[in-house]
Amino acid sequence: MAGGEVWAVVGPKGGVGKTTIAANLAVALNRPVGLVDLDVPFANMASLFRYKPTFTWEDWDPEDSIVRRSNRIRENVYLMSAQNEPNMKPKSPLVEKAIDGIEAMRRECGFVIVDNGSWLSDYLEEVCRLANRILLVTTPDQMSIINSLNFLKWIDNQEAQVDIVLNRSSRKLPYKVSELEEVTGCPVSMVLPETPKVTRLSWQGKLMVEVKKRHAWSKEIYQFVRDQVPNKKHVREMSPVATV
Ligand SMILES: Nc1ncnc2c1ncn2[C@@H]1O[C@H](COP(=O)(O)OP(=O)(O)OP(=O)(O)O)[C@@H](O)[C@H]1O
Ligand SMILES: [Mg+2]
Repeated sequence: MAGGEVWAVVGPKGGVGKTTIAANLAVALNRPVGLVDLDVPFANMASLFRYKPTFTWEDWDPEDSIVRRSNRIRENVYLMSAQNEPNMKPKSPLVEKAIDGIEAMRRECGFVIVDNGSWLSDYLEEVCRLANRILLVTTPDQMSIINSLNFLKWIDNQEAQVDIVLNRSSRKLPYKVSELEEVTGCPVSMVLPETPKVTRLSWQGKLMVEVKKRHAWSKEIYQFVRDQVPNKKHVREMSPVATV
């Protein structure tokens, strides 16, 4: 496997917070990160940043640098977006092209976070296969937990580290976090509280980890990054490309 990290943010239930968490992690990592939106054809990572992508998969030729064909949406974040214009028929890249793109991001940035859709697609299958880390996002309700348990059976990668991310968590859960770990067989690595601030900020194109650094939600993200990426072995100096 080529050097570098690929984290896949997944969750077989719509609206559990995959896109929000992927974006906040990318910014919190504070090192060059390729943020890949594979929730095609309804990609909305760019709109979370209130950003209109200049480049999408359509514009990337595998002979080109993918970083140069990405949107530098933050100092350290290079977004490979997918097309999602309200007045155009949505398009998706070929699965092979998307996977080549993720590998190219891994080579060029050293770190890649892939945001995925909630349905079981060929994209998702391939991304889970090549990821070193799978962040399975769930909300505390039984519907999302049941889907997550089924999803764990579906993943075909024995080598990836799988973490459960419990989002929109309330103070009083109907079960212990340790019970969730037991039933899933995976560590619950982040417990993120329910807060209306997440949505309010997203309307402004701002992220929790940027504006609400001391909030419990952001602290969990920063703690995870500190614990899981303790050294900077993949950090590389990036040549400046077009900024926002
Ligand atoms: N901890 C939270 N507290 C309150 N609202 C949240 C929280 N996390 C996410 N949200 C809100 O939930 C909504 C869905 O979040 P998001 O789009 O990130 O989910 P998703 O899993 O990517 O959805 P999809 O499956 O459609 O891609 C958004 O409005 C977001 O602001
Ligand atoms: Mg999403």
